[in-house]
Amino acid sequence: MDGNGRWAQQRSLPRTAGHREGAKAVRRVVQACSECGIEVLTLFAFSSENWRRPQWEIDVLMKLFAATLRSEIRRLDNANVRLRFIGDQRAFSPTLQNYIVKAERRTAGNTGLTLVIAANYGGRWDVVQAAQRVAGEVVAGRLQPDDLTPEIFHRYVSLADVPEPDLFIRTGGEQRISNFLLWQLAYTELYFTERLWPDYAAADLADACAAFASRQRRFGQTGEQVAGAAHA
Ligand code: FPP
Repeated sequence: MDGNGRWAQQRSLPRTAGHREGAKAVRRVVQACSECGIEVLTLFAFSSENWRRPQWEIDVLMKLFAATLRSEIRRLDNANVRLRFIGDQRAFSPTLQNYIVKAERRTAGNTGLTLVIAANYGGRWDVVQAAQRVAGEVVAGRLQPDDLTPEIFHRYVSLADVPEPDLFIRTGGEQRISNFLLWQLAYTELYFTERLWPDYAAADLADACAAFASRQRRFGQTGEQVAGAAHA
Protein backbone atom coordinates (compact mmCIF):
# COMPACT_ATOMS: atom_id res chain seq x y z
CA MET A 1 0.00 0.00 0.00
CA ASP A 2 2.58 2.51 -1.19
CA GLY A 3 2.17 6.24 -1.71
CA ASN A 4 0.46 7.50 1.44
CA GLY A 5 3.30 9.90 2.22
CA ARG A 6 3.46 11.32 -1.30
CA TRP A 7 -0.31 11.71 -1.45
CA ALA A 8 -0.12 13.88 1.67
CA GLN A 9 2.96 15.83 0.54
CA GLN A 10 1.24 16.71 -2.75
CA ARG A 11 -1.43 18.40 -0.62
CA SER A 12 1.04 20.03 1.82
CA LEU A 13 -0.29 17.78 4.57
CA PRO A 14 1.73 15.74 7.08
CA ARG A 15 2.54 12.17 5.92
CA THR A 16 0.21 10.84 8.58
CA ALA A 17 -2.78 12.42 6.81
CA GLY A 18 -1.89 10.12 3.91
CA HIS A 19 -2.01 7.09 6.21
CA ARG A 20 -5.47 8.14 7.45
CA GLU A 21 -6.66 8.44 3.86
CA GLY A 22 -4.97 5.09 3.17
CA ALA A 23 -7.16 3.50 5.84
CA LYS A 24 -10.21 4.66 3.85
CA ALA A 25 -8.77 3.01 0.72
CA VAL A 26 -8.41 -0.22 2.73
CA ARG A 27 -12.12 -0.15 3.44
CA ARG A 28 -12.96 0.43 -0.26
CA VAL A 29 -10.68 -2.33 -1.51
CA VAL A 30 -11.84 -4.86 1.10
CA GLN A 31 -15.42 -4.21 0.06
CA ALA A 32 -14.56 -4.53 -3.65
CA CYS A 33 -12.71 -7.82 -3.05
CA SER A 34 -15.61 -9.20 -1.01
CA GLU A 35 -18.07 -8.26 -3.72
CA CYS A 36 -16.14 -9.85 -6.59
CA GLY A 37 -15.52 -13.11 -4.75
CA ILE A 38 -11.78 -12.86 -4.14
CA GLU A 39 -10.93 -15.49 -1.51
CA VAL A 40 -7.88 -13.96 0.16
CA LEU A 41 -6.56 -10.40 0.30
CA THR A 42 -3.24 -9.76 2.05
CA LEU A 43 -2.33 -6.15 2.81
CA PHE A 44 1.21 -5.13 3.72
CA ALA A 45 0.46 -2.65 6.51
CA PHE A 46 3.80 -2.43 8.32
CA SER A 47 7.06 -4.10 7.37
CA SER A 48 9.79 -5.19 9.76
CA GLU A 49 11.85 -2.36 8.21
CA ASN A 50 9.19 0.32 8.87
CA TRP A 51 10.50 0.65 12.46
CA ARG A 52 13.26 2.76 10.86
CA ARG A 53 10.74 5.57 10.22
CA PRO A 54 10.55 8.65 12.49
CA GLN A 55 9.09 7.71 15.89
CA TRP A 56 6.20 10.17 15.53
CA GLU A 57 5.10 8.48 12.29
CA ILE A 58 5.33 5.01 13.87
CA ASP A 59 3.26 6.22 16.85
CA VAL A 60 0.55 7.57 14.55
CA LEU A 61 0.50 4.34 12.50
CA MET A 62 0.16 2.19 15.64
CA LYS A 63 -2.71 4.36 16.90
CA LEU A 64 -4.33 4.19 13.45
CA PHE A 65 -4.11 0.37 13.38
CA ALA A 66 -5.71 0.12 16.83
CA ALA A 67 -8.42 2.71 16.05
CA THR A 68 -9.21 1.11 12.66
CA LEU A 69 -9.47 -2.35 14.21
CA ARG A 70 -11.81 -1.04 16.88
CA SER A 71 -14.00 0.89 14.49
CA GLU A 72 -14.11 -1.66 11.62
CA ILE A 73 -14.36 -5.01 13.36
CA ARG A 74 -18.15 -5.04 13.61
CA ARG A 75 -18.53 -4.06 9.92
CA LEU A 76 -15.99 -6.74 8.85
CA ASP A 77 -17.69 -9.39 10.97
CA ASN A 78 -21.11 -8.48 9.52
CA ALA A 79 -19.63 -8.75 6.02
CA ASN A 80 -18.53 -12.34 6.83
CA VAL A 81 -14.81 -11.36 6.56
CA ARG A 82 -12.28 -13.55 8.37
CA LEU A 83 -9.47 -11.39 9.71
CA ARG A 84 -5.94 -12.71 10.22
CA PHE A 85 -2.57 -11.19 11.03
CA ILE A 86 0.87 -12.37 9.96
CA GLY A 87 4.18 -11.07 11.27
CA ASP A 88 5.91 -10.87 14.62
CA GLN A 89 3.32 -9.18 16.81
CA ARG A 90 5.40 -9.28 20.00
CA ALA A 91 6.77 -5.81 19.18
CA PHE A 92 3.28 -4.25 19.40
CA SER A 93 1.75 -2.73 22.53
CA PRO A 94 -0.27 -5.14 24.72
CA THR A 95 -3.41 -3.15 23.78
CA LEU A 96 -2.87 -3.62 20.05
CA GLN A 97 -1.97 -7.31 20.52
CA ASN A 98 -5.20 -7.72 22.49
CA TYR A 99 -7.28 -6.12 19.69
CA ILE A 100 -5.60 -8.43 17.17
CA VAL A 101 -6.34 -11.59 19.18
CA LYS A 102 -9.95 -10.52 19.77
CA ALA A 103 -10.51 -9.61 16.10
CA GLU A 104 -9.10 -12.94 14.92
CA ARG A 105 -11.23 -14.88 17.43
CA ARG A 106 -14.39 -12.96 16.64
CA THR A 107 -14.14 -13.55 12.88
CA ALA A 108 -12.55 -17.03 12.89
CA GLY A 109 -15.74 -18.79 11.78
CA ASN A 110 -16.53 -16.41 8.91
CA THR A 111 -16.58 -17.90 5.44
CA GLY A 112 -16.29 -14.87 3.12
CA LEU A 113 -13.11 -12.98 2.23
CA THR A 114 -10.04 -13.85 4.30
CA LEU A 115 -8.38 -10.50 5.00
CA VAL A 116 -4.76 -10.91 6.06
CA ILE A 117 -2.93 -7.95 7.55
CA ALA A 118 0.85 -8.26 7.38
CA ALA A 119 2.10 -6.23 10.34
CA ASN A 120 5.71 -6.22 11.49
CA TYR A 121 6.09 -8.73 8.70
CA GLY A 122 9.14 -9.41 6.54
CA GLY A 123 9.57 -12.14 3.95
CA ARG A 124 13.04 -13.00 5.25
CA TRP A 125 11.72 -13.13 8.81
CA ASP A 126 9.04 -15.53 7.60
CA VAL A 127 11.55 -17.88 5.95
CA VAL A 128 13.77 -17.77 9.05
CA GLN A 129 10.93 -18.48 11.48
CA ALA A 130 9.95 -21.44 9.27
CA ALA A 131 13.55 -22.67 9.21
CA GLN A 132 13.72 -22.41 13.01
CA ARG A 133 10.59 -24.52 13.39
CA VAL A 134 11.84 -27.08 10.85
CA ALA A 135 15.15 -27.26 12.75
CA GLY A 136 13.13 -27.93 15.93
CA GLU A 137 11.43 -30.88 14.21
CA VAL A 138 14.83 -32.25 13.18
CA VAL A 139 16.25 -31.87 16.70
CA ALA A 140 13.16 -33.63 18.10
CA GLY A 141 13.74 -36.52 15.68
CA ARG A 142 10.42 -36.01 13.89
CA LEU A 143 12.05 -35.07 10.56
CA GLN A 144 15.22 -36.22 8.82
CA PRO A 145 17.12 -33.41 7.02
CA ASP A 146 17.10 -35.42 3.79
CA ASP A 147 13.32 -35.71 3.93
CA LEU A 148 12.83 -31.93 3.81
CA THR A 149 11.19 -30.85 0.53
CA PRO A 150 9.78 -27.49 -0.65
CA GLU A 151 6.30 -28.91 0.00
CA ILE A 152 7.14 -29.78 3.62
CA PHE A 153 8.95 -26.45 4.20
CA HIS A 154 5.90 -24.65 2.85
CA ARG A 155 3.84 -25.93 5.81
CA TYR A 156 5.93 -23.78 8.16
CA VAL A 157 5.73 -20.40 6.40
CA SER A 158 2.90 -17.91 7.01
CA LEU A 159 -0.31 -18.53 5.05
CA ALA A 160 0.49 -22.20 4.44
CA ASP A 161 -3.22 -22.94 4.85
CA VAL A 162 -4.48 -20.63 2.10
CA PRO A 163 -3.81 -20.77 -1.68
CA GLU A 164 -0.58 -19.15 -2.87
CA PRO A 165 -1.18 -15.57 -4.09
CA ASP A 166 -2.26 -15.26 -7.73
CA LEU A 167 -1.66 -11.53 -8.04
CA PHE A 168 0.68 -9.07 -6.31
CA ILE A 169 -0.27 -5.40 -6.70
CA ARG A 170 2.14 -2.65 -5.71
CA THR A 171 0.88 0.92 -5.80
CA GLY A 172 2.87 4.16 -5.82
CA GLY A 173 5.12 3.43 -8.81
CA GLU A 174 7.85 1.40 -7.06
CA GLN A 175 8.80 -1.81 -8.83
CA ARG A 176 10.14 -3.90 -5.97
CA ILE A 177 8.91 -6.68 -3.71
CA SER A 178 10.48 -5.01 -0.64
CA ASN A 179 10.63 -8.12 1.54
CA PHE A 180 6.95 -9.00 1.20
CA LEU A 181 5.89 -12.66 0.84
CA LEU A 182 9.18 -13.87 -0.64
CA TRP A 183 8.52 -17.60 -0.44
CA GLN A 184 4.83 -17.36 -1.33
CA LEU A 185 5.30 -15.12 -4.40
CA ALA A 186 7.34 -17.67 -6.38
CA TYR A 187 4.70 -17.99 -9.16
CA THR A 188 2.60 -14.90 -8.43
CA GLU A 189 1.86 -12.44 -11.25
CA LEU A 190 3.40 -9.05 -10.43
CA TYR A 191 1.49 -5.85 -11.23
CA PHE A 192 2.79 -2.34 -10.64
CA THR A 193 0.76 0.84 -10.82
CA GLU A 194 1.58 4.53 -10.41
CA ARG A 195 -1.66 5.07 -8.47
CA LEU A 196 -0.97 6.26 -4.91
CA TRP A 197 -2.62 4.01 -2.32
CA PRO A 198 -5.03 6.65 -0.90
CA ASP A 199 -6.44 7.10 -4.43
CA TYR A 200 -6.78 3.36 -5.05
CA ALA A 201 -10.35 2.45 -5.96
CA ALA A 202 -12.46 -0.47 -7.17
CA ALA A 203 -11.82 0.54 -10.81
CA ASP A 204 -8.05 0.18 -10.22
CA LEU A 205 -8.60 -3.28 -8.79
CA ALA A 206 -10.67 -4.16 -11.86
CA ASP A 207 -7.79 -2.96 -14.11
CA ALA A 208 -5.34 -5.14 -12.19
CA CYS A 209 -7.66 -8.16 -12.44
CA ALA A 210 -8.07 -7.58 -16.20
CA ALA A 211 -4.28 -7.47 -16.63
CA PHE A 212 -4.03 -10.66 -14.58
CA ALA A 213 -6.66 -12.38 -16.74
CA SER A 214 -4.66 -11.57 -19.89
CA ARG A 215 -1.51 -13.31 -18.62
CA GLN A 216 -0.61 -16.89 -19.41
CA ARG A 217 0.58 -18.69 -16.29
CA ARG A 218 2.95 -21.45 -17.28
CA PHE A 219 4.37 -22.72 -13.96
CA GLY A 220 7.46 -23.97 -15.79
CA GLN A 221 5.58 -25.54 -18.70
CA THR A 222 5.62 -24.32 -22.31
CA GLY A 223 2.95 -21.99 -23.64
CA GLU A 224 1.74 -24.77 -25.96
CA GLN A 225 1.32 -27.22 -23.08
CA VAL A 226 -0.73 -24.71 -21.10
CA ALA A 227 -2.87 -23.77 -24.11
CA GLY A 228 -3.42 -27.48 -24.89
CA ALA A 229 -4.54 -28.23 -21.32
CA ALA A 230 -6.92 -25.24 -21.40
CA HIS A 231 -8.60 -26.61 -24.57
CA ALA A 232 -8.67 -30.26 -23.43
C1 FPP B 1 3.41 2.96 2.73
O1 FPP B 1 3.31 4.25 2.13
C2 FPP B 1 2.35 2.78 3.72
C3 FPP B 1 2.54 2.38 5.01
C4 FPP B 1 3.87 2.06 5.57
C5 FPP B 1 1.42 2.29 5.95
C6 FPP B 1 0.19 1.60 5.44
C7 FPP B 1 -0.91 1.86 6.40
C8 FPP B 1 -2.17 2.17 6.06
C9 FPP B 1 -2.68 2.19 4.67
C10 FPP B 1 -3.11 2.51 7.19
C11 FPP B 1 -4.27 1.63 7.38
C12 FPP B 1 -3.99 0.18 7.34
C13 FPP B 1 -4.72 -0.75 7.97
C14 FPP B 1 -4.48 -2.20 7.68
C15 FPP B 1 -5.77 -0.41 8.94
P1 FPP B 1 4.48 5.31 2.36
O2 FPP B 1 4.25 5.98 3.67
O3 FPP B 1 5.80 4.62 2.24
O4 FPP B 1 4.24 6.33 1.20
P2 FPP B 1 5.39 7.04 0.31
O5 FPP B 1 6.02 5.94 -0.51
O6 FPP B 1 4.60 8.00 -0.53
O7 FPP B 1 6.32 7.73 1.24
